[in-house]
Amino acid sequence: MSSISVHAKPSTNFAEKVFETLALLQQAVAEFSPVTQASSLGAEDVVITHLNNQHRLNMPVFVLETGALHRETLALLERTQAHSKVPVNVYRPSNEKVIAFVKTHGQDAMYQSIELRKACCQVRKLEPLAEALKGQRAWVTGLRREQSHNRAEVPLIDRTDLATKGQIKLNPLANWTWGDVWHYIAENKVDYNPLHDQFFPSIGCAPCTRAISLGEEFRAGRWWWEDEAAKECGLHAKT
Ligand code: ADX
Ligand code: SF4
Repeated sequence: MSSISVHAKPSTNFAEKVFETLALLQQAVAEFSPVTQASSLGAEDVVITHLNNQHRLNMPVFVLETGALHRETLALLERTQAHSKVPVNVYRPSNEKVIAFVKTHGQDAMYQSIELRKACCQVRKLEPLAEALKGQRAWVTGLRREQSHNRAEVPLIDRTDLATKGQIKLNPLANWTWGDVWHYIAENKVDYNPLHDQFFPSIGCAPCTRAISLGEEFRAGRWWWEDEAAKECGLHAKT
């Protein structure tokens, strides 16, 4: 089933939202450069990368390729690199550290305890994220308020981590609905991850993402064996 046919339904002020989002992205480039877009290649991120390309914002994109992504995500990464006019940089974890982690804790360590799951995220996501953000003044994410209770108050411009981590975080889609995201994808014929059509609204690493059933929450398929409160990998944990 196509996500477009199921979800595409714009808010009444959709055109205004797109205008404001573009204005924020332009402000990001004008005032906060060097700025980079973090893309997991999820639906929100492909919308931002499309705006980035379409309006020649020249904001480099980075993808954290954890070594545990679905093949569908890797294929979309290749297509994005092939077609994007802005650079798409890939950051990978240290091979030695991944091997050492798997050797000590096994490939399924994330299911054993929250500590081991976070240790895996540390090696595969957070360390590469620190590399990707080195020297950057700001980064752009696809976080939306609707995604979870934890994210209900995500601001458009987040300066919370500026003092500790050194970057401003911009969340230009903070007030977009899921319907807006899919309406944009449909209207602009944006390439997207086919896993979305198999009931994966939120897509992370393969071992830690499953499809959701009717009525389940947006992020129910992420780290589904953990409590709601634990469900952030650290990319967006509040300090
Ligand atoms: S996560 O913290 O639970 O993994 P989520 O998948 O909801 O985050 O994605 C939220 C935003 O974080 C994305 O829109 C994107 O900006 C950034 N992000 C998440 N995963 C990655 C990744 N693998 N590479 C780059 N950015 C990512
Ligand atoms: Fe490891 Fe899962 Fe975190 Fe990916 S999401 S880094 S596989 S624990």
